[in-house]
Amino acid sequence: MHAQLIDGKALAAAVKAEAAAETASLQAAGVTPCLAVILVGEDPASQVYVRGKIRDCAECGIRSLELRLPETTTQQELLDRIAALASDSTVHGILVQLPLPAGIDERAIIDAIPPEKDVDGFSPVNVGRMQTGQPCFLPCTPAGCIRMIESTGTVIDGKHAVVIGRSNIVGKPVAQLLLARNATVTICHSHTRNLRELCAQADILVAAVGHEAFVDGSMIKPGAVVIDVGINRGSDGKLHGDVNFAQAAERAAFLTPVPGGVGPMTRAMLMKNTTQAAAMQNGLSLEKMS
Ligand code: GUN
Repeated sequence: MHAQLIDGKALAAAVKAEAAAETASLQAAGVTPCLAVILVGEDPASQVYVRGKIRDCAECGIRSLELRLPETTTQQELLDRIAALASDSTVHGILVQLPLPAGIDERAIIDAIPPEKDVDGFSPVNVGRMQTGQPCFLPCTPAGCIRMIESTGTVIDGKHAVVIGRSNIVGKPVAQLLLARNATVTICHSHTRNLRELCAQADILVAAVGHEAFVDGSMIKPGAVVIDVGINRGSDGKLHGDVNFAQAAERAAFLTPVPGGVGPMTRAMLMKNTTQAAAMQNGLSLEKMS
């Protein structure tokens, strides 16, 4: 192996330390940041993710509210819960864990979260503000990916970045953030014809496909920075990324592991969005407080 690992856990610890310092400043000003996390149903992966988010809040001194609602919750019941949190001035961030059970319209739920409390960065207002380069809540996984790339000292400007996947949560926004940093961005997806060739040209490769070992060594340009967003439960019961790790490690210059890569960074960025939300809703500036 010659790739250098990008240690998501260590980077996340540094980002959470920033969030903890911001929380301390906010508390000194009389504000306790608070994140409400809503989980509907019993999806096992979602339960793990939500537990992680609640634990991170505790680590950073952020108050958390965990709302666990049954699988049978109706869309209206969920909308009512969101409305109550939206009008509660002690709650600064509202996160509804996705995916939602069938029968609940995800779009209607995301649209019901006020943009100023949308710490996931999924609401149309935040998406539009990101697209046009205005201040906004950045979606946590894409923001974490960028921070990981930058941590390697790689200059994004002018590089060819290839993103595999076009989801609203990862593919589209990470492509947008790379573009905003002057990368030449190619977005590949299930209908892309020459996907292997395109990937092999990438200076920066972001894999967000959801298929174990989708990216093999021959799809990686020697010296590339490879960010693996995939979290796939393998037949061995372990977590695997979208990238064949052993093969990628022989060719990439930098590579994120799974687990311990993008996942912890996503949660750390959520903590930063929550302190930012608490500051903004109280007319405070974190920059001025540090
Ligand atoms: N499900 C998978 N990733 C995410 C995320 O970043 N936020 C929410 N709310 N749900 C998710």
